[in-house]
Amino acid sequence: MKPRHFLTLLDLSSAELEQLLGRAIELKAMHRRGAAHIPLRQRTMAMIFEKSSTRTRVSFEAGMSQLGGSSLFLSPRDTHLGRGEPIEDTARVMSRMVDVIVIRAYEHEMVVRFAEHSRVPVINALTDLYHPCQLLADIQTYVEARGPIAGRTAAWIGDGNNVCNSWINAARRFGFKLIIATPAGYEPVADIVATASDCVTLTHDPRAAAQGADIVITDTWASMGQEDEKAQRLKDFSGYMVDSKLMRLAHKDAVFMHCLPAYRGYEVDAAVIDGPQSVVWDEAENRLHAQKALLEFLLAPTGACREH
Ligand code: CP
Ligand code: NVA
Repeated sequence: MKPRHFLTLLDLSSAELEQLLGRAIELKAMHRRGAAHIPLRQRTMAMIFEKSSTRTRVSFEAGMSQLGGSSLFLSPRDTHLGRGEPIEDTARVMSRMVDVIVIRAYEHEMVVRFAEHSRVPVINALTDLYHPCQLLADIQTYVEARGPIAGRTAAWIGDGNNVCNSWINAARRFGFKLIIATPAGYEPVADIVATASDCVTLTHDPRAAAQGADIVITDTWASMGQEDEKAQRLKDFSGYMVDSKLMRLAHKDAVFMHCLPAYRGYEVDAAVIDGPQSVVWDEAENRLHAQKALLEFLLAPTGACREH
């Protein structure tokens, strides 16, 4: 039987995602009260990371340990992938040894090819195209802070990047409106936007996007792999910083979100990210709880996650 993978949010139905986030909230409460929950004992998670990470690596490793399993971290120097062993062969070999494989890669195609040849679930821990694990935590955070997200309006201000593409998928799956303000030439992938034309609007006006929004989101102007473009991007994103003036246009109960790492004074002003509307630390913490729910969903389908 083919395993379930989590390469984009669209790999799960709306009902499955809702169930998973409900479970994440439960797992968070259990963790807070110190309840032991070890459904994944004797299970092993391999992590292949081509790019740097703080939150994703720590949350997956800590989460797997809390669920009773173990993990092994592999940088590009630790495997033969970097020396030319085919992705397909690596997937066939590793998936005979471990129970789940978490991959952070440059090319999205890399995780797709890996998954096609893996006997065990593959989780996308960020590619140039998507960051679905981030969105699990982000939606959990909004729900905990303000209630259901269906029918709300989110404003993305900045680069139409991998996280933005996953917000588009989230708008489809969770039923909210997403207004995306980018400079010309930095729009999200047109094919992804086209799949969500009923819930996504593009603009080049950050103020119009923020007007009345329930959520204001941004991310770095230069993602991993775009370091050489930094100087040009600083010029092109002038006027796109999320500051208090922009936040005042949003709904008075609006929250500010950022996947982190953040660069204060560039895409966001310190007064906003460190201010009362910011939920960024909850977003970061929820990576742990949401991904534990994801691991449970993919690896322990007879467990509590499926009993609701
Ligand atoms: N938000 C996020 O994925 O952070 P890391 O790059 O630190 O994992
Ligand atoms: N868009 C950023 C997200 C980092 C978590 C990047 O890809 O570098």
